[in-house]
Amino acid sequence: MEITISEMTPDELPEVMELEREVFSWPWSEEMFMDEMGRDYSFIFLARDEAGLLVGFICFWMLIDEMHILNLGIRKRYRRLKIASKLTLEALKFCYMRGARAATLEVREKNKAAIKLYKSLGFEEAGFRRNYYESPRDNAVIMWLYDMQWVLEKSP
Ligand SMILES: CC(C)(COP(=O)(O)OP(=O)(O)OC[C@H]1O[C@@H](n2cnc3c(N)ncnc32)[C@H](O)[C@@H]1OP(=O)(O)O)[C@@H](O)C(=O)NCCC(=O)NCCS
Repeated sequence: MEITISEMTPDELPEVMELEREVFSWPWSEEMFMDEMGRDYSFIFLARDEAGLLVGFICFWMLIDEMHILNLGIRKRYRRLKIASKLTLEALKFCYMRGARAATLEVREKNKAAIKLYKSLGFEEAGFRRNYYESPRDNAVIMWLYDMQWVLEKSP
């Protein structure tokens, strides 16, 4: 499937909220997305299919020489098509070009799909926060990618 990736603009917020509500049981609010768009170190990339349908997004921070992934979601019927991999690689490439040399994120310990995705992109489990998440309560796994260049060599 042909996927187009672009940076989110404020007029795309209603579509992003519809997707966010489909993907997460505790979705981000409109204000949270607006807050992220207002920070000069925060970026949201959107993935669309050939018909222009919004199928996924990633939100990340670019902080000096580190990238932090905050949120990533793919529409249910579009999963296992490497869209999350493409979005994450595009975001990693964007940050690497701006000086990032390592990337990190927190993920629910029970979210085996996301942990496997991040491992497939070179992230390693590097720490643990007990009862970090609410609703439902879960531990956080902290993951780091230390060799961004290696990942970018395999990016499209
Ligand atoms: C996790 C998520 C983002 C993955 O998106 P995706 O586009 O389906 O992922 P990809 O197709 O790029 O998957 C790449 C690899 O990750 C692993 N993976 C992804 N989903 C998986 C699943 N449900 N079960 C097992 N492995 C999985 C596989 O190794 C996969 O490669 P393969 O399909 O060749 O086996 C998606 O399932 C999602 O939106 N989940 C709900 C929101 C969420 O958990 N976000 C992450 C918050 S940190």
